[in-house]
Amino acid sequence: MLEKDIQEVLFTEEQLARRVGELAHQITQDYQGREIVLISVLRGSFVFMADLCRRIDLPCTVDFMAVSSYGTGTSSSGQVQITKDLSGNIEGKDILVVEDILDSGNTLSYLLRVLEQRGPASVRLCTLLDKPDRRVKPVEVHYSGFTIPDAFVVGYGLDYAEHYRNLPYIGILKPEVYGG
Ligand code: IMP
Ligand code: MG
Repeated sequence: MLEKDIQEVLFTEEQLARRVGELAHQITQDYQGREIVLISVLRGSFVFMADLCRRIDLPCTVDFMAVSSYGTGTSSSGQVQITKDLSGNIEGKDILVVEDILDSGNTLSYLLRVLEQRGPASVRLCTLLDKPDRRVKPVEVHYSGFTIPDAFVVGYGLDYAEHYRNLPYIGILKPEVYGG
């Protein structure tokens, strides 16, 4: 039913599971002997976060934050607003921000700055997808799942107008769906 709106599958469930496992393994190695706070940027990263955290073999806690920058369009405004803040204090903690996709960089450059101001011990970024061609603001990425071309993708948590998040794979949305 949802497949009819997908032009091309970019990453299957199996490919996603394998790459998420590799990222989790790398994170587990890098943070040996430490405890991390995983911060999921809602809503797009909830699926990735759920899979990633279960493959990380370290003591960790999870927290959630929500920002708005997109509305229902397909490109960001540059105006970012925190719509839901963290529940916990991050001072002195090792923070790993978990994002679904890094596009213009507007959202994350703002968010990372806000988090840095709260005095964590460290802040790193793990993004499942990266669209470097679209970058407007520079953002340092420590863990990146896949680099993708400039196409609008949905599934595995990623939405178009709040839909398609429940697709188990990641696919390119047919441009006619969003009038592109
Ligand atoms: P940025 O501020 O332009 O880097 O946008 C980051 C946010 O835009 C992501 O967290 C997504 O919510 C959304 N986004 C960017 N590209 C896509 C896409 O191809 N599909 C779905 N959402 C996207
Ligand atoms: Mg998002």
